[in-house]
Amino acid sequence: MRVLKKIFDQNREWAEKVKASDPDFFLKLSEQQNPEYLWIGCSDSRVPANQIVGMLPGTIFVHRNIANVVAHTDLNCLSVIQFAVEILQVKHIIVCGHYDCGGVRAAWENKEHGLIDNWLQNIKDVQRFHKARIDSLPSEKEKIDLLCELNVMEQVVNVCHTTIVQTAWKIKQELAVHGWIYSVQNGILKDLNICITDPDEIPDTQYPE
Ligand code: CO
Repeated sequence: MRVLKKIFDQNREWAEKVKASDPDFFLKLSEQQNPEYLWIGCSDSRVPANQIVGMLPGTIFVHRNIANVVAHTDLNCLSVIQFAVEILQVKHIIVCGHYDCGGVRAAWENKEHGLIDNWLQNIKDVQRFHKARIDSLPSEKEKIDLLCELNVMEQVVNVCHTTIVQTAWKIKQELAVHGWIYSVQNGILKDLNICITDPDEIPDTQYPE
């Protein structure tokens, strides 16, 4: 018995629809992928990379984890960045966070969550770096929203400091690193106005208001 039959039915329907609008779509993609973008986002089911920017398969190389963290000890994420930059030669790396992020909220709360607390420590570090600025806001919602934004910015900086990105810039490869945030409440993406194309543009931990 095929379980989750509905999903397979939907898949057939989707593939037929794509083929109807472009009969060679899958043939072309089966020969090679040539994405211009690497997306580093949250695993949250409400933030599917391609769908929220209305782009088809083949356009975005994607890495997602809880709270879109880029840790220098994470071989998985680093391997994705290496493959995207060196082999696929993407021109843009987008770190995209989102408001109402469960990972960010869990890091914010002083509760025990088990194994995941080790991962969330990366966000607790962001919170500690920016404690004064976060504490200056009046409501918990505003504080957590700001932590979501600052987490994106810190992860952008982490991407920029990887040996992979540093090497790409050294050999004059065209590569920009961006920080964006998405609202699950209205489906709108916001640019956090951080776009780094050169090692000299990497900010320290002080960001403009
Ligand atoms: Co999230």
